[in-house]
Amino acid sequence: MVKNELIFEGNEKQVFSTDNPDRVIFRYKDISVAYNNIKRARFIGKGILDNGISSILLAYLNRNGIKTHFIEKVSDDEQLCRRIEIIPLEVIVRNRVAGSLATRLGVEEGFRQGNTIIDLRYNNDELEDPLINEHHAVALGLASYEELQFMVAEARRANELLSDVFHRAGIELVDVKIEFGRATDNGELIISDEISPDTCRLWDEKDGRRLDKDRFRLDLSDVVASYREVLERLQNLNLES
Ligand code: TMP
Repeated sequence: MVKNELIFEGNEKQVFSTDNPDRVIFRYKDISVAYNNIKRARFIGKGILDNGISSILLAYLNRNGIKTHFIEKVSDDEQLCRRIEIIPLEVIVRNRVAGSLATRLGVEEGFRQGNTIIDLRYNNDELEDPLINEHHAVALGLASYEELQFMVAEARRANELLSDVFHRAGIELVDVKIEFGRATDNGELIISDEISPDTCRLWDEKDGRRLDKDRFRLDLSDVVASYREVLERLQNLNLES
């Protein structure tokens, strides 16, 4: 696979075209952004850790019947992926109340509700990624009702598989954000973004330590060390053997 030109530059990653029009290379940068890009910092080594973690998790989902854009890790900070047309929606699955939901509902962070909560966000920087519902998504032409039903069901299944993997690593998956796209080769709806401490809340099961991007959002120390801990714990599970 030959890496060609940069076709997308995001805050935290780059996407390059390849000699195959249906394949791209994702490169993870050493940058963290939060609060709609208001907060920004460089963490040396974070890109490699995000790539390592995301590669393990996306490969695990692929092997367990959930289609993702991930094909293979091709270097320390790069993955080969299926090319997709972006659907600007975020499906958030919440096993506990935390983050923006705790604020919105006036509930203490960490409250363990009896049901799994699904939020939908419209991925739109100008509007600051507003919460929307399925009717809004259909009205905006982002997806059909059937596609939304599929995305929510896939996100729930991914949450179950990921919760189990993290639990085996002594980590609780508090919430996870999942994005989808339509593969350019056959139109399939597939998971199409990273799954990493940048897109999940991960709490240590023993002491409740945050091992995710909240360390950056909340100005806690040891951002890179925490991501490294997540990677090492996942590697120790030997999921691929
Ligand atoms: P929230 O509690 O801030 O709504 O975040 C819910 C989950 O979504 C959490 O795991 C962090 C993740 N997330 C992203 O991946 N990207 C974003 O832009 C935001 C705001 C949250």
